[in-house]
Amino acid sequence: MTKRRIGVIVSGRGSNLQAILEAIKQDDINGEVVVVISDKEDAYALTRAAEAHIHHVAVSRKACVDKTDFENKIDAALREQQVELVVLAGFMRILSSSFVSKWKNAVINIHPALLPAFKGLDAQGQALEYGVKVAGCTVHFVDEGMDTGPIILQKVVPAYAEDTHDTLADRILEQEHLALPEAVGLWCADKLEVRGRKVFIKK
Ligand code: GRF
Repeated sequence: MTKRRIGVIVSGRGSNLQAILEAIKQDDINGEVVVVISDKEDAYALTRAAEAHIHHVAVSRKACVDKTDFENKIDAALREQQVELVVLAGFMRILSSSFVSKWKNAVINIHPALLPAFKGLDAQGQALEYGVKVAGCTVHFVDEGMDTGPIILQKVVPAYAEDTHDTLADRILEQEHLALPEAVGLWCADKLEVRGRKVFIKK
């Protein structure tokens, strides 16, 4: 089967990108990362892409006229590499509905909480503050809302009253590194079927 073409969009250190690259190396994903796009020029994820000899681009929001211009540049960078699946791996901006509608069921995101709880920024901090006893991460399709799209899979970790932001975030991150490659692998194997809010995983 031909390898699916993956574009990864990042804003920071790129440990989730690295997890995808490792899963590809292990043959757990029938795909290849053909472009890494960052909205931050100094994102460590770009260094990781360079080290892996992957085409990478920085599209700075500040250098764009407006959000439409910014998203058009991202869209162009993806299409230039004939991307089929877009993975948001620590991308810290919200994509507009016009962008998302062009990539229906082809954009997935990793969120460090058990959605629908703790949407938005600093999900781990929100969970800690709330005093939850379980936390985790969610991989979902991106729709027009913020962290609202159909859920592909979730992983759960315990949360302790003694946790600090870092201990909880690290425990969740370990699971992100399993969940995101797993979901990407399922997408690339054509095993995901979205019906309304539900994602069915084909056998
Ligand atoms: C992860 O916790 C991700 O869920 C969140 O941002 C963090 C990105 O980490 N949205 P990295 O850049 O993949 O290391």
